[in-house]
Amino acid sequence: MKALILFSSRDGQTREIASYIASEIKGQQACDVVNILHAGSVEWAQYDRVLIGASIRYGNFHPAVATFVKRHLNELQQRTTGFFSVNLTARKPEKRSPQTNAYTRKFLHQSPWQPDCCAVFAGALRYPRYRWFDRIMIQLIMRMTGGETDSSKEVEYTDWHQVERFAREFAQIPAKTV
Ligand SMILES: Cc1cc2nc3c(=O)[nH]c(=O)nc-3n(C[C@H](O)[C@H](O)[C@H](O)COP(=O)(O)O)c2cc1C
Repeated sequence: MKALILFSSRDGQTREIASYIASEIKGQQACDVVNILHAGSVEWAQYDRVLIGASIRYGNFHPAVATFVKRHLNELQQRTTGFFSVNLTARKPEKRSPQTNAYTRKFLHQSPWQPDCCAVFAGALRYPRYRWFDRIMIQLIMRMTGGETDSSKEVEYTDWHQVERFAREFAQIPAKTV
């Protein structure tokens, strides 16, 4: 059986994290990485382990994440599962756990699906790639929260060692019999 990693990513950081986790898991188990927007027809019989990763934009995960969970709740509940969120609030270590990261806590509180493991990763700040409006908005948020405001900068806050530890944790949870 394989592992399935689904990601929701707007600017690519969550996709990169998903691919990194896949490369860590692949020694133990074959793994497919799929954009959740293109996961209309999953062949569930192939998978005994599912991980969903999603980034935050203006306070929300992409609605496709909750839609997917609702639609495939049974399949998720029968398998070993994990969830990770990616956002810039998590650049502060004290906001980098499922309990202390407000977006993640809210998601888990509202979700009918309760994953077996969960992590919060800091994302990336890439001013030069943003549209004018987004650049201004992010700069404003960064000014208010004591972050980087130089709009010529690209900063990656992701702690790849944390991602590695989480990949190991996820891969080591015993598989459920599907
Ligand atoms: C337009 C925009 C809005 C964002 N809104 C938030 C936010 O509300 N809270 C937050 O913590 N991070 C926010 N971020 C930061 C992203 O979550 C972060 O850049 C992440 O790495 C994006 O991941 P992705 O490239 O997979 O979409 C925002 C980023 C952008 C570009």
